[in-house]
Amino acid sequence: MSGHGTAIPMTSRPCGPLTGTAEVPGDKSISHRSLILGALAVGETRITGLLEGQDVLDTGRAMAAFGAEVVNHGGGSWSVHGVGTGGFGEPENVIDCGNSGTGVRLIMGAMATTPITATFTGDASLNGRPMGRVTDPLALFGTQAFGRKGGRLPMTVVGAADPVAVRYVTPVPSAQVKSAILLAGLNAPGDTVVIEREATRDHTERMLTGFGATVRVEDTDEGRVITLTGQPDLRPQDIAVPRDPSSAAFPVCAALIVPGSDVLVPGIGLNPTRAGLFTTLREMGADLTYENEREEGGEPVADLRARFSPDMKGIEVPPERAASMIDEYPILSVVAAFADGRTVMRGVKELRVKESDRIDAMAKGLRANGVEVEEGEDWWIVSGAGPGKVPGGSTAAARLDHRIAMSFLILGMAAREGVTVDDAGPIATSFPVFEPLMTRLGADLSRV
Ligand code: S3P
Repeated sequence: MSGHGTAIPMTSRPCGPLTGTAEVPGDKSISHRSLILGALAVGETRITGLLEGQDVLDTGRAMAAFGAEVVNHGGGSWSVHGVGTGGFGEPENVIDCGNSGTGVRLIMGAMATTPITATFTGDASLNGRPMGRVTDPLALFGTQAFGRKGGRLPMTVVGAADPVAVRYVTPVPSAQVKSAILLAGLNAPGDTVVIEREATRDHTERMLTGFGATVRVEDTDEGRVITLTGQPDLRPQDIAVPRDPSSAAFPVCAALIVPGSDVLVPGIGLNPTRAGLFTTLREMGADLTYENEREEGGEPVADLRARFSPDMKGIEVPPERAASMIDEYPILSVVAAFADGRTVMRGVKELRVKESDRIDAMAKGLRANGVEVEEGEDWWIVSGAGPGKVPGGSTAAARLDHRIAMSFLILGMAAREGVTVDDAGPIATSFPVFEPLMTRLGADLSRV
């Protein structure tokens, strides 16, 4: 079932060539951060191209509950009148972050060093995910958190009245953990330092700098060292959100596996901390090109062109690339099913604590549709059936996970018998126009 209503089963049948232009929505990571940093600045931040998916709308509602004025002007144009660093007020009610780990973890960080109390909850998926990875470092600032067993939501967070700056080495490669600490560090006097052994997406660092904070990033033997000087006055910004590479992945990968396809996906953010999938696909032999490469709002951007690629080969994905494509392994495993040979994915333990256990969800659904998958705790291997040779014909469980639902619908476009997902509802969290957009390109999607 989807988090906010009854299940929407959907079938994807084999289709003719996918052609045309796919204008995917704004970047989810940058959209969350635009609302949160806008709420922490003094004055009005204007945002265009905001992703109006459920996850981001939940973050917008949360910012209003903490005292910011969040206004939807229509057509992806929003404004946030912020209350300033340390200016959050205490919410009157429980904050429901829906399906969003990014939302809840970043908001916990943003309120952690202000002397207010807030209680957070979410849907069944979010309430099963670990929050200790964020509340442990926040405790070093003086923040208290009281959750369920295993550090799960619902959870009450009591912000530190007298926060102290923190130095923290992140034990897991996570931009959410890094960002929570940096946002908490905004209201602590002195330098807050986060050290990550593997570089994760750096939107928070880039955007904090844009809002006028002092952030120093150094690559050292210890890893990437990020130093934030606390208690800045954040200046409101005009933000144009680039389109989401993680959403672009779906029409791009569909075009690679559906015979005769040729799809243009314009204006995609290609921050190196996010673009690992596209590098991997090109190494596999995908006909994927970057056109009109440019810079927009401090982020590298290009138009992606993907054409049917019948000669793709399985590869060993370098584990050090994992952080830059962590959300893309489910759709990569679908492409791998249509390649020749084995695609080996190692160093991906984090996939087990996303919106679902993504290795388990994909392995079970792929096997049910005739694809061979082996797995261990932090690795999995897909043995490609080859182009046009995936049987399909089965139903896959989406497990309240948008990327699992979309991945299996893409599988169905090129599998012999099509594929059904038990619930396409979660797709609305990140890619609300997925169904009409893919249908316009030529996909055959129907609600069962
Ligand atoms: C995100 C970070 C990643 C990613 C998530 C978005 C972010 O999670 O999976 O979809 O916006 O910071 P982790 O930081 O937990 O790896």
